[in-house]
Formats: sequence, C-alpha cells, structure tokens
Amino acid sequence: MTNKTSNAMWGGRFASGPDAIMEAINASIGFDKRLAAQDIEGSRAHAAMLAATGIISDSDAAAIREGLLTVLSEIENGEFEFSAALEDIHMNVESRLKDLIGEPAGRLHTARSRNDQVATDFKLWTRDQYDAAIDGLQALVRALLTQAEAGADWVMPGFTHLQTAQPVTWGHHMMAYVEMFGRDVSRFKDARARMNESPLGTAALAGTSFPIDRHMTAEALGFDRPAANSLDAVADRDFALEFLSCASICAMHLSRFAEELVIWSSAQFRFVALSDRFSTGSSIMPQKKNPDAAELIRAKIGRIMGAMVSLFTVMKGLPLTYSKDMQEDKEQVFDAADTLMLALAAMTGMVSDMTANKDALEAAAASGFSTATDLADWLVRALNLPFRDAHHVTGALVAMAESKGCDLPDLSLEDMQSVHVDITGDVFDVLGVQNSVNSRQSYGGTAPDQVRAQIARWKDALG
Ligand code: ARG
Repeated sequence: MTNKTSNAMWGGRFASGPDAIMEAINASIGFDKRLAAQDIEGSRAHAAMLAATGIISDSDAAAIREGLLTVLSEIENGEFEFSAALEDIHMNVESRLKDLIGEPAGRLHTARSRNDQVATDFKLWTRDQYDAAIDGLQALVRALLTQAEAGADWVMPGFTHLQTAQPVTWGHHMMAYVEMFGRDVSRFKDARARMNESPLGTAALAGTSFPIDRHMTAEALGFDRPAANSLDAVADRDFALEFLSCASICAMHLSRFAEELVIWSSAQFRFVALSDRFSTGSSIMPQKKNPDAAELIRAKIGRIMGAMVSLFTVMKGLPLTYSKDMQEDKEQVFDAADTLMLALAAMTGMVSDMTANKDALEAAAASGFSTATDLADWLVRALNLPFRDAHHVTGALVAMAESKGCDLPDLSLEDMQSVHVDITGDVFDVLGVQNSVNSRQSYGGTAPDQVRAQIARWKDALG
C-alpha cells in the first residue's frame, strides 16, 4: 500500500510516498477546503507584499495574484479537483497555481510557512463567524423587542423553581432574553477585537530573514495589527476557543429559552402558539403540533459545547509552537459555527412568528397565590408589621385560601381579620395582579413603565 511518488511540496528528502493509511490520517483537505477563499486572500496579500518589498518581482507577483483568482473561480464553480495526496487546502491551491502559471508559483511560499498560513486562514474564517453571530443575535434581539413592546403590560406568572412566584409582565420576560443575548453580542465583540491580529509572516515559528512588511499584509487583510510574537502567533488558537466559548454561552441561553417555549406551547400552559411555519405534525396523532424547532435548539448546545470541550482537550498540554494536533481545530469550529447560525435563525423565526396568549397568561398570573408577596409588603407598609411577622400572617392567609379552594382576592375581609384584626379593605387593592406589576417600579423591575424604558434604551442602542 505504498504510494511510490514522494510529495511534490515537501518530498525532497523522501524516497517513497506515504502509506495510504498515513495519507488518510494526515490529509485535512476533506474539511479545510472550506478555507479556500481565505487561503487565496491571504496568499494574494502575501504576494503583493513580497513584490512591494522587492523580495519577488512585480511580474511574478502579478502572475501569482492573477493565477490565484483563477484557482478561486475554479473552486467556486466546482471545477477544482481536490487531492488528498496534496494534504490540505494550502498545497492544493499552490499546486494548481503551478499548473496554471508555472515557475513563479514556487516563489509564493517565500518568507512564510503553512504554520502562519493556516493560522491566518483560520482566523479570517473565524472572524467572519464572529460577525455572523453578532448579526444573527441582533436580528433575534429585534424580534424579542417587538414581542416585548406588544405585551409590555400583559401580566403572566413569574417563576422560581418553576413554581408560581410573583406576577411579571410578558414584556419583562422577553426583555430578560434581550439582556442575555445582548451580553452574548458584547462577548463576541470583545473576543473579535482581541483576536484581530495577523499571524501572517511569522513563518514557521521564528519569523523570517527576508525583509517582509507584516504591517502591510495585516492591513490588507483587515487585521488591526500584526501579532507581536512569532512563536505565539503560530501556536495560538485562543481565537477559536473564545469563539466556541462565546458560542456555548449563547447556545445555553438559546437552550433555556427553547425550553420555555416547549413548556409554554403545551396544552397545559398555552402561553404561546407557535406558527405552523415553525412546528411539525405527528404522523400518528392528528391533533398534535410539535415544537420541534424549539426542541432542536434546546439540544444544539450539545454539539456546540462538545466542540468547545473537544478543542480545549486538543490544545491542552501542547508544547510550543505548532503541532499537527492543531489540524483537529477546524471541524469543531466549522460545525459549531454552522450549528449556532442555524439555531439563531430558527429562534428568530420562531419568536417573530409566535403569538402570546394574553388571556392564558393573565389567568395563570392570578393563580397560585402570586400576589402573596404584595400582601406581605402591604402589611409592612399599612400596619407597620416587621417583614417576618407579615410573612407569617400572609402564610396563614394562603393556607386559609388553600383550604377554602379559592385565591387570595376571594377571601372576605372577615376571613382576613380573623388572622390579623387590623387588616382593612384597602388590602384588596394590592391583591390584583395588574396592581402588583404596576407597583414594581424599582429600576429594572417588572412595572410596564420600567419595561418600556428598557425597550427604548435597547432600541436606541441598536439604532
Ligand atoms: N493542514 C495543516 C493544519 O491544518 C496545515 C499546517 C501544516 N503545518 C505543518 N507544519 N505540517 O494544521
């Protein structure tokens, strides 16, 4: 199973080519062909710089740059024949360039190595994914703001332990996710700013003796500056790990929201109706409308976080600088990025299309003694009871209502006074859910005024 010819790119000292198994484990072309556009962009910038610094001739650089565009169009048109014997995208592109333009192609790899090349390509690719994640999140935030605005004062139960806790507003609940996804945006932005340094020209690991201009290539490729340490630049995959970390946190937020949508769309809750466009039917139970998109979004974090753990595990313990282990970085990030973008798009579609059931939200808000805290607060304010005593009195009233099978507002004043004689009829004002939410005027609280102020702040920020 020996391939007779040695590798055309690095085979100078090899008498025979690799075993087929060696080729199979070594080749990355099956997946790194996704970096073709970035590879060609990086090479074109490198060639222009080599000419500008007098390292290669202008005519060679022009032939290289032109030839690379031909390679790109062949790849884009599906005419390119990828070869596993040529291992990876870098050597596939360079080899084809040689077919097309001959001798000058061999000058392209002056003053660089595949180590800085792959770091550059992968950074450029990942940088686009940072931007795509930010765009996707902003679209989702807009969809949530629309929902929040429509129901800024609709009451619903707020939960702790998934037990009814206190009434809140639908708008407030939607805005909680706006805050989470807003933090995700800022996390992706922070990491993007940190990663935007060019590895190109750090060469194999030590830099190069050629008089290159790394600032020029950095600028041409949209980097803020060249990376300052050549060893670090070829060994660093933080930019991918940070992407996966940001993606995992975002996927966790998506998963929590998806879980709520699954619960809320059930017949038992009926808080929301999902659109036909984002639901599926059952092949056996005709009445069913399943929240499959929400369930799948809930699950996608498994892949995204799996990719993060996988790449951390690949990177841990690697000595400086490049090791072939690092070829295992790409598939994880590709899959996580694809998964995240799909999940964001599906969530945005679901949120834009869903209808909140105002009546069901309101009915649920009033059940489960949700205004018990308002009652306790009233006892503190009106009767000057210490909060602990007020809590105790309220507990006794809840127990009474429970034994009578009614809610707190259904108790009579006599019932109330049998627990605490000083209670007056004014208490009934605080037992309504609308009053309850209206009273929560503390900054960031659930009062519709507060919610509307937050909506306005976010709309302003998004522009
Ligand atoms: N295909 C390789 C990767 O993805 C490119 C870098 C190879 N460098 C090397 N020194 N063998 O990591």
